[in-house]
Amino acid sequence: MMKGTTAKVLAYKQVYQRIHSAISQGTLKPGERIPSARALAKEMGVARGTVEEGYALLKAEGYLVSKGQAGTHVSEKLIDPSKLRKTNVDTRQAEFAADIKTAEVLPFQLGLPALDAFPRQTWSRMTARCARNIHTDDLAYPSAHGLPQLRVAIAQYLQLSRGVQCEPAQVFITSGYVCSIKWIANVLFNAQSKIGIEDPGYPLTRQVLKNSHFNIISIPVDEDGIKLPTNTQADAIIVTPAHQSPTCVSLSLQRRQALLDWAETKNSWIVEDDYDGEYRHVGLPLPALKSIDTQDRVIYSGTFSKILSPSLRVAYIVVPKSKVSAFEKCAEIYAGNVSGLTQASVLAFMREGHLLRHIQRMRKLYRERRELAVRVFNQVLGGKVSIKPQPGGMHMILKLTDPNIDDLVFSNKMMNAGLFSQGLSQWSSKPVHPSLILSFTNIRTEEECHRLVCRLRDALFEGQ
Ligand SMILES: Cc1ncc(COP(=O)(O)O)c(C=O)c1O
Repeated sequence: MMKGTTAKVLAYKQVYQRIHSAISQGTLKPGERIPSARALAKEMGVARGTVEEGYALLKAEGYLVSKGQAGTHVSEKLIDPSKLRKTNVDTRQAEFAADIKTAEVLPFQLGLPALDAFPRQTWSRMTARCARNIHTDDLAYPSAHGLPQLRVAIAQYLQLSRGVQCEPAQVFITSGYVCSIKWIANVLFNAQSKIGIEDPGYPLTRQVLKNSHFNIISIPVDEDGIKLPTNTQADAIIVTPAHQSPTCVSLSLQRRQALLDWAETKNSWIVEDDYDGEYRHVGLPLPALKSIDTQDRVIYSGTFSKILSPSLRVAYIVVPKSKVSAFEKCAEIYAGNVSGLTQASVLAFMREGHLLRHIQRMRKLYRERRELAVRVFNQVLGGKVSIKPQPGGMHMILKLTDPNIDDLVFSNKMMNAGLFSQGLSQWSSKPVHPSLILSFTNIRTEEECHRLVCRLRDALFEGQ
C-alpha cells in the first residue's frame, strides 16, 4: 500500500501529466476550456485540492490560464504545442451463445444503463440544436472515420477519464462492439488467426469470432482476471480488464503487465473491451490497460451504450498508430454506420460537460441500486444464494447455494416468469458453479426490488 502523502503526490503529478500530454499531443488546443477541478477530481476519484495543485503547476508553467467564471483554459499563447518539452514527471502508477438482448425490456435485463435516468431534457436540447444548425454539407454522407470533432472529443475524454493517450486520428467511430470487433478482425486477423477469449466470457465475442471461422482459444479467468499461460500462441487476446464480463473481477496490475509483456514478446495484439470501465463502486477508477501500453499493442474498444444509451449505436476504437492507415481503408469500405446527427449530438453533449456529470451521477446511482439489490436478495433469498462484493460493473452474479442446480433450467424458469436472467454456464465452455447473471441498474425503488425478488423466489423456489 502506498503511504497517503506519496499517493497524493502521485495523484497531482498524474493530473499534471494528463493535461500536459493532451496539450502537447494537440488533443487540447490553445484557447480550449478544460474540465473544472471539481469535475475532474470526481472523475479521477481524487480530492479537488489535488487537481487544483496539478492545475496550479500548469498555470505557473504557462500552459493554463484562469478566466474567472468562464473557467480554466489552455493558454492561447502556446503557438506550437507539439514542440512542448517532454515532461519528466514520472506518473506510472504504483498501484494500480447466449442471447443477452430481448426486444422487450424485462426486469433484471442485462447490458442496460438506468433507462429512467437518461438525461432526456439535455439530450433533447442538444439534438434539437444540432438539427437546427445542420450545415448543408452535413447532409451528405458522414465521414467514414467518424465526425472529426467527435474523434477529438473522445481522445480528450479518454486522456482525462481513462488515462489513455491517443491522437484523434487513432479514434474511429463504429456502430457498436460487434462492428468494432469486425473492423479489428478485418485489419489485424487472417483466416488462420488464433484468438484468445476469456472463459467465462461475453457470448457475443465468441459468436462473432466463431461465425468468422477464427480459431478460438478459451483462457480461464480467476479472482485476478484472465490467467494467460506465457506460452500461449495466439494472434490476439480479447479481454475485459476493468470488470471482467461476466465475473466483474478487475485484472490485477501484475496480470496487466504480464499480458502486455506477452503481447510484446509474441508480437500479438490485445483487444481491450472497456465497455463499463467508468462504473467502479469502490476506490479510485482504474485506468484502462491501454494507459500503460508503451508498445502500442492494445486496441481499445469503448462504447456510449453504457454511459449514455445503447439505442444511439455509437461506439469507437483506438487503434495503434502503425495501423491507422489500414483502419482508414477498412472504414472507407464498411463505414456509414452512425448517423451524422447522432454523432453531432453526442459531441455537443460531451463538449458542454454533460457527459462527465452524467457519468458521475450514474456512478452514485448504480452504487445505491446495487446495494439495495444485494440487501433485498439477501433478505428474501438468504441461504439459497450468495452475492460476492464486486469492485464495479452493471450486473451481479447470484451464486446458487445448491451445487446440483442447473442454472440454465433456472434462467429458463425466470424467463418464463417474465424476468430476465442468464445462467453462468451459458457464458462458459467448462463446468462452473451454478449461478445467475442479473442486472440491477433498472431497479428503481425498494418496493419494486422487493416485489421483483419475491417473483423470482416464487418462480425458482416455489414449494422448497
Ligand atoms: C462485454 C461487453 N462488451 C461490449 C459491449 C458493448 O456493446 P455495444 O457497444 O454494441 O452496445 C457490451 C454490452 O453489453 C458488453 O457486455
